[in-house]
Amino acid sequence: MKLEIPENIGAIVPYPPGKPLEELEREYGISDSIKLASNENGWGPSPKAVEAIEQCLRGLHRYPDGSSFYLTEALAGKLGAGMDEIVLGNGSNEVIEFLVKAFVRTGDEVISSHPSFLMYQKFVQVRGGRNRVVPLKEMLHDLGAIINTVNEKTRLIFLDNPNNPCGTFFSTREFEDFLRRLPESVIVVLDEAYVDFVKAEQRIDILSYIRKSEGIPAVVALRTFSKAFGLAGLRVGFGLMHRDIADVLHRVRQPFNINLPAQAGALAALSDDVHYHATLNKTRLGRKWLQEEVKKLGCVPYDSQTNFFLIDVKGDATILYESMLRKGVIVRSMAAYGYPDFIRITVGTRDENERFVTALADSLSELGYV
Ligand SMILES: Cc1ncc(COP(=O)(O)O)c(C=O)c1O
Repeated sequence: MKLEIPENIGAIVPYPPGKPLEELEREYGISDSIKLASNENGWGPSPKAVEAIEQCLRGLHRYPDGSSFYLTEALAGKLGAGMDEIVLGNGSNEVIEFLVKAFVRTGDEVISSHPSFLMYQKFVQVRGGRNRVVPLKEMLHDLGAIINTVNEKTRLIFLDNPNNPCGTFFSTREFEDFLRRLPESVIVVLDEAYVDFVKAEQRIDILSYIRKSEGIPAVVALRTFSKAFGLAGLRVGFGLMHRDIADVLHRVRQPFNINLPAQAGALAALSDDVHYHATLNKTRLGRKWLQEEVKKLGCVPYDSQTNFFLIDVKGDATILYESMLRKGVIVRSMAAYGYPDFIRITVGTRDENERFVTALADSLSELGYV
């Protein structure tokens, strides 16, 4: 065999997913470990989604509906969007991929922040585009520096709002000012994976920007069923965008990209307001409790409206991460994200949160950090 790997593909470092529980338990010979590393929903999926998935399984010999009609219709109804303004993906990840596939040619530029969700850059590398990466400023997207980075080759700007890993977000006013200072030729992608957790009055009215096409660039919003809806394993996300952009993305997607159980499960989850609101409430309460406990241990928790937040552990975060792994608790070290003394944790169930606090206290005192 003689492989010729294109340079741009050879240069890609695979996305580092949070360590799976099974792998940790095998490696350390432990059981009953917990994972607070991937911003998942610790309370599980909606029971309505599970039931709908079970019911559809006998139809698995058929291809799914390629247009995901009922799911798209329900989303459109819920969000006040047109069905032609929605594009579904195998996770919002896939919609990111569609955008890059459709709009980025070799040598074109795409702007994103560091740190932010890593997949933007990886899809751009696959396409042979050039990543222009702008550092966050005090944990916020540096919108001014991003504007200064735009040139005639810029095709897309990715902004996760709230930002992962910092949990910070910008306001409607800041967004509006930003849009007005950009050329109309770029597409601004607002990745709203965690927007469900943000207070309603602080969210950006994204549809108004999608429909307001004069004098500002096109805006695309990305949403997901992986977080508040508790369906990370099912892989469903979607983009809201101008119908002309949606029309382009439909040309680059596979005909059956949303599988049968995914359509059924997401549709049912969408109708389960009880599960959705319970998740938001429990996340808020859990986050508040965790932040108070972490403070008592001498660490500094950072503000967040999402289901995760950063903690300054006042010492090497990677060593602490490994110490916590041995106690069966998986978090994320932020060393690779440019914060060597920080970990990021996801708000879990009450039991998980208590396990985390105990493990953190033990690790901090073993390592002599605080
Ligand atoms: C900011 C951000 N965007 C997108 C995603 C991808 O979500 P999905 O599961 O819908 O692909 C994540 C996942 O963690 C994320 O943090």
